[in-house]
Amino acid sequence: MVSYQSAKEEIKRTADVVELIGQYVKLRKAGRNYVGLCPFHAEKDPSFTVNPERQTFHCFGCKKGGDVFGFWMEYHSTTFPEAMRDLAERYHITISEGYSAAEEEKKAAQRNALYKINEIAADYFQKALNHSAKGKPARDYLKRRAIPEETISASRLGFAPDKWDGLINVLKKHHTAMHMAEQAGVIIQREKGGYYDRFRGRIIFPIIDQRQQVVGFGGRVMDDSLPKYLNTPETPVFRKGESLYGLHASFKAIREKGRAVLVEGYMDWLALQKHGLKEVVATLGTALTDRHVRKLKGYAKEAIIVFDSDEAGKSAALKSLYVFANEGLSAKAVVLPAGHDPDSFVNENGLDRFQDFLGHAFPMFDFFLDQKLTKGDSDEGKVRALKEILPVLSEIRDFALRSLYVRRLSEKIGIREDTVLAELKSHYKIPTVGAQRKSREGGQGPSKGKAADKMGRELLSLMVCYPDTIPRLMDCDCRVLISEPEVVDMVDMIFEKYIQEGRFLPEDLLEDIKSESGRERFRETLHRPYVIYSDQDVEQAVTEIEKKAYLKSISASQKKARGDRETQNKLLKLKIQGPPRS
Ligand code: GTP
Ligand code: MN
Repeated sequence: MVSYQSAKEEIKRTADVVELIGQYVKLRKAGRNYVGLCPFHAEKDPSFTVNPERQTFHCFGCKKGGDVFGFWMEYHSTTFPEAMRDLAERYHITISEGYSAAEEEKKAAQRNALYKINEIAADYFQKALNHSAKGKPARDYLKRRAIPEETISASRLGFAPDKWDGLINVLKKHHTAMHMAEQAGVIIQREKGGYYDRFRGRIIFPIIDQRQQVVGFGGRVMDDSLPKYLNTPETPVFRKGESLYGLHASFKAIREKGRAVLVEGYMDWLALQKHGLKEVVATLGTALTDRHVRKLKGYAKEAIIVFDSDEAGKSAALKSLYVFANEGLSAKAVVLPAGHDPDSFVNENGLDRFQDFLGHAFPMFDFFLDQKLTKGDSDEGKVRALKEILPVLSEIRDFALRSLYVRRLSEKIGIREDTVLAELKSHYKIPTVGAQRKSREGGQGPSKGKAADKMGRELLSLMVCYPDTIPRLMDCDCRVLISEPEVVDMVDMIFEKYIQEGRFLPEDLLEDIKSESGRERFRETLHRPYVIYSDQDVEQAVTEIEKKAYLKSISASQKKARGDRETQNKLLKLKIQGPPRS
C-alpha cells in the first residue's frame, strides 16, 4: 500500500502514455511523437500529439493536453481522484485512502455511489432473470427472440420483476440512501413521499461504459404495451448524448476492423453479436451527437449506419449526415429491405447476407441524395428536394466538403452549381472562407501567429531540448529578448529550477506553471517537432542569442542615459566590442 502522492508518482512511472491513449485513439508514429485525430474536438487532419519521452499529450487544435491523468479525466469525464483510482487499478497499484481535494472528492464519491447502486441493481436484475420461477416468462421471451445463454450472460441481461419495491428492498439491505438511488435513476420518488422501482416487468439491458461500469439501463416490455422501452434518465454518470450501447464490448473489434457498424436498437446489437459481427454499437433511438462520433473516431476509420427501412430510420440517417461530416469521420449508409431491422434480417438471412449489404453501403451524401431525389422528379419536386437538402448542407462547416456536395447535388438534381450556391447563401448565413479562417485563428490563446514572440519560442525550445545551454542563456540575460510576459515567467521558472537543482526537467515545470494558457504554451513547446540541431548549430544559436541580448541591453541603457555624454560613449564602446564571450 502506498500513499496518495507516491501512488501518483508510481502510476506516472508505470503508465505509458502512448499505450494508454493508444487504446482509445488511433495513433501513428511521426518523428519522436505519435499523432492521431483528437478525441476532444472535430478534426480531419491529426493535430493531437503524444510525446513518449515527456509522457504528455497535446492537441494543437483545441489546446487540450496534459499527462496520463489529464487524458483519463478528459476522456472519461472523471475527476482527478477517479482517474487516480482507475489508473491505479489498471496498473495494480494499491493506494491508501487519504488526501484529495475536497470538492473533487465529493464529486467522485457521488459518482462512485451511483455506479455502486447501478451495480447492485444490475446484479438484482440478473439474478431475477435466472430465478427459476420469477424469471421464467423473461427467459421464455429471450428464447423467442433467439438470444442464446452466452449472449445473455456476456451482456448481463436481466429482468425487473413486476413489483413496486423489488429493487427498493434489495437497496435497503445494502443500506443504500434512497435519494442516491433516485439520482441513479433506478427508483422514482412518489409525490406523497416514498419511492418505487422505475423498472417493472421489463427485460433489462445494462448500459456499460468502457471502464466496464454500469452507467444506466434500458428496459423492454415483453408484450405490446407502451412505452416499449424505458431508459435511465440523464444522471451524473449517464449522458445520453455520449453513451453508445455495446461499445464496452466492441471497441477492440472496431479498432481491428477499422470500421464501426451503427444500429439503432439493443436487440439489433445483440443479434449481430450473436452471429459473430462484433464491430457494432447501438445509438438507442436518440439522435447521433458529435460526442458519439468523437468516441467512434478514436477506433474507426469509417462508420456504416444501418437503418430500419421505416421513415423514422431514414430521417435519423439523414440528420446524422452533418454530424459525421463535421467530425470528419467518413460514413456510409445501408437501408435494409422493407419491414426488416438488423435483428430480424440477420436472424432470417444469416450473417453473410447481412455482410453483403454492408459491402454495398453508399457514402452518406449519395445515400441522402438518393433518398431525396426520386427519379423523374418534376421541377416543383426538385425545388422541394433542394429546400430539404439545403439546411443539411448549411450545417456542414467544412468549406471544401460543402463545395464538393454542392457540385454533386447540382449534377444530380440538374440545377446549375452557382444557382445552388446562391440559394444556399441567401437562405443560410454561411461564413466565407476568409471569415472561417479568421474565426478559427482568433481567440485560440496567445500562441498563434505572433511573429514578435518567435524568439520566446526559440528560447524555450532550446532550453527544453538542450538544457546544457541554460547556464549561458542565464548569463547573457536572454530574457530581455522575450516580448511576452508569460514566456518571461516561464524562463524565470526554468532558471530558478536550474539554480536550485542544478538541472532542469521539463516535466517538473509543467506542474509548476499556474495558468492554463501557460501550460498550453509550454506543452506546445514540448510537442513541437524537434528541430534537429547539430552541436555546431546549437552553439551558433546560443552565440547569436548572446549577441542579441547584449546589444539589446546596451540599447536599453543608451536610451536611459540620454544626455549623459560620458556614459553614452562607454556604451558605444561596449557595443562595438561585442559580448565578452565572443
Ligand atoms: P424490438 O422491437 O425489441 O426488436 O426493439 P428494436 O430495437 O427493434 O426497437 P425499435 O426499432 O422500435 O427502436 C430502436 C431503439 O430505439 C430501441 O432499441 C430503443 O433503444 C429505442 N426506443 C424504441 N422505442 C422506445 C421508447 O418507447 N422509448 C425509448 N426511450 N426508447 C425507445
Ligand atoms: Mn427490432
